[in-house]
Amino acid sequence: MTEIEKVYQFLDEAHTYYLATVEGDQPRVRAFGTALLYDGKLYIQTGKVKPVSHQIAANPKVEICAFKGGKWVRIAGELANDDNRDVKVAMLEKMPSLKGAYSADDDNMQMLYFKNATATFSSFTEAPETVTF
Ligand SMILES: Cc1cc2nc3c(=O)[nH]c(=O)nc-3n(C[C@H](O)[C@H](O)[C@H](O)COP(=O)(O)O)c2cc1C
Repeated sequence: MTEIEKVYQFLDEAHTYYLATVEGDQPRVRAFGTALLYDGKLYIQTGKVKPVSHQIAANPKVEICAFKGGKWVRIAGELANDDNRDVKVAMLEKMPSLKGAYSADDDNMQMLYFKNATATFSSFTEAPETVTF
């Protein structure tokens, strides 16, 4: 398994992760659950109308934290917008429940992928492991 696949699998199995953005000097954090590995890139999904999207547009630096089975991962990096229709379709196919709120052709559905990312896996019992992608 490649390093980015390990990160993706962890997020997928954790189901829920917490995405932090910055708004001026104020951190903002919220629960997220979308994750997709597509074309070698790790994507998350949101709506362009949401404050989180506006915050990322103003400052693409984000951090994610997820916890699963005694381990946690923190992913720090930048998110880049990708309006490729195929990746939106792939996200909707993976998580069909999104179809209630989004479609590949609306002006809202947003796919964002990680750039310049560092993921650190930690636990109370093992040394931290860092991967970059
Ligand atoms: C378990 C869970 C998973 C969620 N996953 C997502 C997600 O992947 N993308 C998304 O845009 N919102 C998701 N949400 C909803 C956001 O947390 C919510 O819209 C939040 O208000 C967005 O942040 P904002 O208000 O700063 O824009 C999820 C909520 C929960 C409880």
